[in-house]
Amino acid sequence: MSEQPPLVLVSNRGPVTYQEDGSVKRGTGGLVTALTGLASHRDAIWIASAMTDQDVEVAREHDGKPFEVEAPEGGSFRIRFVESDAEAYDRFYNIIANPMLWFIQHYLWDLSNAPDIRRHEVEAFEQGYQAVNHDLAQAVIDEIDGQEEPVVMVHDYHFYTLPGMIREARPDVFLHHFVHIPWTQPDAWRVLPNGIREQIYNGLLANDIIGFHTKSYQRNFLQCCRDLMDLDVSFDEGIVHCGDREVWVRHYPLPIDYESTRRISRRPRVREFEERVLARRREFAILRVDRADLSKNVLRGFTAFDIFLEQHPEFAERITFTAQLMPSRTDVPEYAEYLEKIEALVAVVNHRHGTPDWMPIDLKLRDDLDEAVASYKHYDVMMVNAMFDGMNLVAKEGPLVNERHGVSILSENTGAHEELGEFAISVNPFDVQELADAIYSALVMSPEARERRARGLKEIVTSRDPGDWIDEQIADIRAKHAGSRATG
Ligand code: G6P
Repeated sequence: MSEQPPLVLVSNRGPVTYQEDGSVKRGTGGLVTALTGLASHRDAIWIASAMTDQDVEVAREHDGKPFEVEAPEGGSFRIRFVESDAEAYDRFYNIIANPMLWFIQHYLWDLSNAPDIRRHEVEAFEQGYQAVNHDLAQAVIDEIDGQEEPVVMVHDYHFYTLPGMIREARPDVFLHHFVHIPWTQPDAWRVLPNGIREQIYNGLLANDIIGFHTKSYQRNFLQCCRDLMDLDVSFDEGIVHCGDREVWVRHYPLPIDYESTRRISRRPRVREFEERVLARRREFAILRVDRADLSKNVLRGFTAFDIFLEQHPEFAERITFTAQLMPSRTDVPEYAEYLEKIEALVAVVNHRHGTPDWMPIDLKLRDDLDEAVASYKHYDVMMVNAMFDGMNLVAKEGPLVNERHGVSILSENTGAHEELGEFAISVNPFDVQELADAIYSALVMSPEARERRARGLKEIVTSRDPGDWIDEQIADIRAKHAGSRATG
């Protein structure tokens, strides 16, 4: 293998998306945040789905081939957009990836009210999920044509069956798959029809290495391979034995690109937002920044704030809870309903506690990174109370740029908690009284304790960057590659 293996990245959402006016917008979500950092540290080609009509137009203009794009945050990427059949893509994204896999992997599948799995879903898997996996697999196979021992890094739950397709066409390829969301325990997977489950696990096990954010997801995956697929696994070594092949299962907690986040925090547009934030500021500010996703537990966060205001009336008119939520996956009915429930609850809490010149919750439904970063700088308390979350990068970005020794309230079920828990106020995300108490403790915490925690968080967040994250994975790729050559 050469010193710098050519990196082929595959993910559903690419680093940018095209808008109606032709302008380029940064993709949202943790995965894009991670890979943007990665692609700016390494020479990479990024293969992604054309997700909007404008992306499709751009894909066609380039004849499905790679092209360079200037990223709005600076730097440039070589990307290749893949267009899939619109109906197939809709089934892939809106029926299988979200909600089915997303829900299973966040324990959101409501067993007491479980949706039936019928022909409709099975067909959506075959004709949607598999079709889109096939389209991107073809693009990868085309891209690595002529390369010797190529390295392909596949990302996330959208592409569990793609590795099997690539392996079949190119047995020599090195496949590394990173899963950005939790891996749930075996029983959570039992809701899937056996045939689908097997295709998913067999597809994934075509990889050489599978990476997760945390040790607990790594362990859950190994348990699933043992219990659901009847495979021999070694928990200590992190290995699944598949016949004469070994699949390494590892954990690599994802850091943020702290240099880039700091640069963003100094932008003039961020400063403009800051002026507005400061002008409207009350004595205390609570902040949350999330995609409007069920897993983020937004409703319980507002319920806890409601309880807090009721139990601590001395804070009336002195505090604002700013919630910047990016509408997400709104074609999935569960997401659209969730957004309605959020708006309804905010109205109730504001009506119950608000006064003519005080609105306790300031809900902003928009996707604006500069605005979010401006708010990061001035919170006293940041709430990250996800029910389950693969990592949660907001938990890292906020403390990095915050200027007030803000306190983090952090769900113990986020991947970030494995690293940051010691310096945050840990909460059980289902216990709203505990969350209300955490808000109070954060607000009355001594300045010394706040400073100590804020410093601890910042130190951890700046101890690694995506370059280190990728190097750790490349080191394992090399080690495994060398080992399989020696034995092979
Ligand atoms: C999470 C997932 C990503 C996904 C992102 C945004 O971070 O791990 O794979 O891209 O959410 O979701 P979306 O459906 O908007 O791409």
